[in-house]
Amino acid sequence: MRRLGWSAAAAAIIVALAAWAVAGPNVPERELSGLTGDVDRGAYVARLAGCVACHTDVRGGGAVLAGGPEIETAFGSFYAPNITPHPQDGIGSWTLDDFARALTAGKSPDDRHYYPSFPYAFYTELADQDIVDLWAALRSLPPVEGGPPDHRLRFPFSFRPALGAWKRMALQPGELGPVDGRTDSWTRGRYLARGPAHCGACHTPRNILGVRQTGRRYAGGAGGAGGAGGAGGGGEVAPPITPDALTDGGWTQASLAFALRTGVLPDGDVFGGSMAEVVREATQYWSDADLSAIAEYIMDSETGR
Ligand code: HEC
Ligand code: HEC
Repeated sequence: MRRLGWSAAAAAIIVALAAWAVAGPNVPERELSGLTGDVDRGAYVARLAGCVACHTDVRGGGAVLAGGPEIETAFGSFYAPNITPHPQDGIGSWTLDDFARALTAGKSPDDRHYYPSFPYAFYTELADQDIVDLWAALRSLPPVEGGPPDHRLRFPFSFRPALGAWKRMALQPGELGPVDGRTDSWTRGRYLARGPAHCGACHTPRNILGVRQTGRRYAGGAGGAGGAGGAGGGGEVAPPITPDALTDGGWTQASLAFALRTGVLPDGDVFGGSMAEVVREATQYWSDADLSAIAEYIMDSETGR
């Protein structure tokens, strides 16, 4: 009798722990009702965040944000969905709050966890106004019918509830408070790198569970689409971009800003692989002030946390 009681208690504890893990972390809801979105600013935020790169089949001639090409990872293949305002095939039936929750908590309106191939672990740092502007820009697009195929994932990665446990380890919103003694442009650069531009998706190493080792920020990682997805796919390697590594490699704040604008490196070579795509779909469109800010931060980023 007593033994049965113990195993029942143990089972209850295991079930409770599993439910706790599966529910995922508690990400505070954003209070956005007082804000008004600006379509042009939102289109710019989409360039800061690289939304177009994943959600548009550029090579296949697909419409903007109507669904992306295959993203290969060690877990299988992902396809970024249609996020135009089409009511069935896109996100036309969503509210602003649904959208904010997807970006900051990695959760769908019907409470499913998203895969980290959607970089919400970075977008969780997005400023309220940037989210509202992005939403205005998305709503202004023409609705497009159709979309990419379903993800093709190997078991057990096809089992979404397990992502709740991953998110408990990997999703840490609200890390970017102000830092004493830093310039406004350094602070802006840190926001860009660690929020929308998600440089660490590829350049920060991950542990065996695909959780970024933030104590070794920018020490180099599995690059490419796999890097964004948390699992080295395609065998691409993103080099270290710590201040020491870049200084040793002859980089300066000016040459880094120039490379992010043009794709041309200090030695006259050009970026290859997925870094070329980062420039083509994102950083080439940035303002001079934002390029200078991210270069200031990356050349002087905090190590450790
Ligand atoms: C690195 C690739 C990548 C980038 C960059 C990216 N996404 Fe996605 N996104 C995905 C993938 C893959 C999914 C599907 C995730 C899943 O099924 O769990 C997704 C899902 C979504 C969804 C959920 C759609 C639905 O039908 O449930 C929304 C909304 C979304 N992304 C918006 C954005 C916005 C806005 C940006 C820019 C701020 C962005 N994404 C940037 C890859 C990306
Ligand atoms: C999708 C993955 C990915 C993202 C996101 C990404 N990078 Fe890269 N990065 C790479 C890869 C891969 C390389 C190597 C490129 C090559 O082989 O030419 C690279 C190279 C670089 C280099 C050259 C380093 C050297 O020593 O030659 C710099 C600097 C750099 N990235 C900065 C950034 C910054 C800043 C961001 C954020 C705005 C960023 N990267 C975002 C994948 C990425």
